Amino acid sequence: MSVRLEMKNMTKRYGQFLANEGVSIAVGAGEVHAIVGENGAGKTTLMRMLYGMEEPTSGEILLDGKPVSFRGPDDAIRHGVGMVHQHFMLFPDFTVAENIVIGYEPKRGGFFDRAKAMADATALAERYRIPVSPTAVLGECSIGEQQRVEILKVLYQGAEIIILDEPTAVLTPMEVSELLATIRTLAEAGKSILLITHKLQEVMEVADRITVLRGGKVTGAVAAKDTSAEELARLMVGRDLEQLSERTEQRGEPLLVVHQVTMQEKKKKPVLDQVSFAVHHGEIVGIAGVSGNGQSELLQAISGLAAVQSGTIRLKDTDVTNRTVALIRETGLAHIPEDRYFWGAAKEETVAENALMGYHRLPAFSRGIIIQRKWFHHLVAAWIERFAIKTSSAHEKAGNLSGGNLQKLIVAREMGRETPLLLAAEPTRGVDIGAMETIHQALLEKRNKGDGILLVSSELSEILALSDRILVMFEGRIVGELSRAEATEEKISMLMAGGRGDGSTQATA
Ligand SMILES: Nc1ncnc2c1ncn2[C@@H]1O[C@H](COP(=O)(O)OP(=O)(O)OP(=O)(O)O)[C@@H](O)[C@H]1O
Ligand SMILES: [Mg+2]
Repeated sequence: MSVRLEMKNMTKRYGQFLANEGVSIAVGAGEVHAIVGENGAGKTTLMRMLYGMEEPTSGEILLDGKPVSFRGPDDAIRHGVGMVHQHFMLFPDFTVAENIVIGYEPKRGGFFDRAKAMADATALAERYRIPVSPTAVLGECSIGEQQRVEILKVLYQGAEIIILDEPTAVLTPMEVSELLATIRTLAEAGKSILLITHKLQEVMEVADRITVLRGGKVTGAVAAKDTSAEELARLMVGRDLEQLSERTEQRGEPLLVVHQVTMQEKKKKPVLDQVSFAVHHGEIVGIAGVSGNGQSELLQAISGLAAVQSGTIRLKDTDVTNRTVALIRETGLAHIPEDRYFWGAAKEETVAENALMGYHRLPAFSRGIIIQRKWFHHLVAAWIERFAIKTSSAHEKAGNLSGGNLQKLIVAREMGRETPLLLAAEPTRGVDIGAMETIHQALLEKRNKGDGILLVSSELSEILALSDRILVMFEGRIVGELSRAEATEEKISMLMAGGRGDGSTQATA
């Protein structure tokens, strides 16, 4: 296999901090090269340098043996380096085909040649067996399809080296298998793929070689056939993972009672259809389901971010149906939101200010500014330590944190409020396996203390590891409930697909 890309001795310094230190990797044509490592290890930084988004402090990039330096992403693309972004840079009102050719539009007589764009997009999708509908409006496509459009876009731009930074974090299990298949197809066609992911099974399934980063340095470079998920975990974290603590028998009084809640836009099919369930003190209720079946709307309704048309929601003994976010939070709710960028964090503010959000109304804050500061400083420091949030100081801009560390900060903030009820949506999205363990442990401890947790996760393994009871959502309804003892991956998957969990298919109304 000929070496297509070499990065030699790459170093990136931010002030006193070395995000990358002497990192070297080599990637062949037709190779899938995975980059793994803890949150803040420097994975994204390395890829940003390759894509021309960050200037290396020192180091050398060689393409087919020739040194290159990119002035920006456009320059990188001209040299055949493309990056698929996690937050897609696409135009929702344009069609799939228009999004694929954008910036490189086929012209005819000086004008955009729509027919050719359509034909080109279709041919490209067929050639790499990537299923998309070229005429569909992008904004109406699923997340998985939008990601396929991003991939086709970089292929259209002529990418030979394709960077994917945590592409599977936002996908359903089905879409993950499709993406892994696409990655293999691209490699077989001679493309070089750089893949960042925290899911070691995915790495073992799709990668040829793996580079492990830790604290900005390479701690291992191995062929997939010579290693195992366990060995990779050890190289990443530097220790063996622990078992979760025991769950105590805890279930108490009902804490959250959702009764026949319906959410519906005029004349459309309801997104929540007569949903009823309860979360008790001392239990974790998991909601499983393919994303887009009402889970997001349910959490928005409970937390006051969206209104319901009928039904009631009670928290403790208060009717909180259609009340304000502030009132519901004060009543006793904390919320780890599914989209940390949209609802969760202000990237321009400091780590401390982000941690503070939502605390202003607590009693400790009405006691004068000095006490507030001291008390709060203490709290933030404790969180940074407990969740191992990697930041140079509490005064650093939150936008400088790595993706996983920002997620940990939001988890810490919401758990730190010690409310009776916690809504946890995808609580471990984007965090490394060590941090996942810490967060799972913290959730279990909260439950054992007698608080209630409503957990929504697209990771079945996470639902199974944590939940006392599992509810399955399908098309806005709860279609099944399983106890911890009876739940298996097969039964849940069946219910998620709209079946009844006993092998038969549910009649759709
Ligand atoms: N612009 C910046 N200024 C200061 N520090 C930065 C900046 N960008 C990144 N860093 C720091 O560099 C380190 C590496 O960040 P990077 O985003 O590369 O991590 P990562 O390995 O991708 O982590 P994750 O798995 O959480 O995405 C982090 O500690 C981060 O805080
Ligand atoms: Mg990253």
